[in-house]
Amino acid sequence: MLSKLDTLTIEFDTGLRTLLAKPRSIRAHPDAGVAETDLSECEKNQASALMRVNHTGEVCAQALYSGQALTAHRPETTAALKQAAIEETEHLAWCESRITELGGRTSLLNPLFYAGSFTMGVIAGALGDKWNLGFLAETEKQVGEHLANHLEKLPQSDQKTRRIIQQMQLDEAKHASEAKQYGAAELPAPAKFLMKKVSKLMTTSSYYL
Ligand SMILES: [Fe+2]
Ligand SMILES: [Fe+2]
Repeated sequence: MLSKLDTLTIEFDTGLRTLLAKPRSIRAHPDAGVAETDLSECEKNQASALMRVNHTGEVCAQALYSGQALTAHRPETTAALKQAAIEETEHLAWCESRITELGGRTSLLNPLFYAGSFTMGVIAGALGDKWNLGFLAETEKQVGEHLANHLEKLPQSDQKTRRIIQQMQLDEAKHASEAKQYGAAELPAPAKFLMKKVSKLMTTSSYYL
């Protein structure tokens, strides 16, 4: 049985690995069999900036789940959060390699967003499992909306990036429906509105920085 201090140490280690280590994917990268297309410098810049936003989103997801798992009450909730976090690490790996291929870089603001998201996760967990899972479900729903928007903004010919985003969409939708199965509550409208504002701040700043 792990003590709270053990768990905190593990989550601290997860944070350092998310920010500093190269993430690995158990599944094959979704774009593995897709040929690279000839993109202009402008198209590459646009695609890599959008993937930088997605990468920061995945850093935030890691931090949220890590914080939520720390304060979740039921073992089933903790297990669901940990399973979702494994898939988010894969998303992190896919985004990171695609950014490198496009000649871009990850966001300088990631440590800041990790700390903020971890704190939000701890608070969500402390509110009780139904709100914790409700927060997870709403986060995944909003991420899905962002990804759909990115598919519209991406160069049509960039099939590799598109394939990655499409697989992430499927995974995020699965995370949202699993959270509902485990008993997620519907968040009140002001909470959803606030989450949208925070995520707007994250997406706009990581697009440039
Ligand atoms: Fe994700
Ligand atoms: Fe997810």
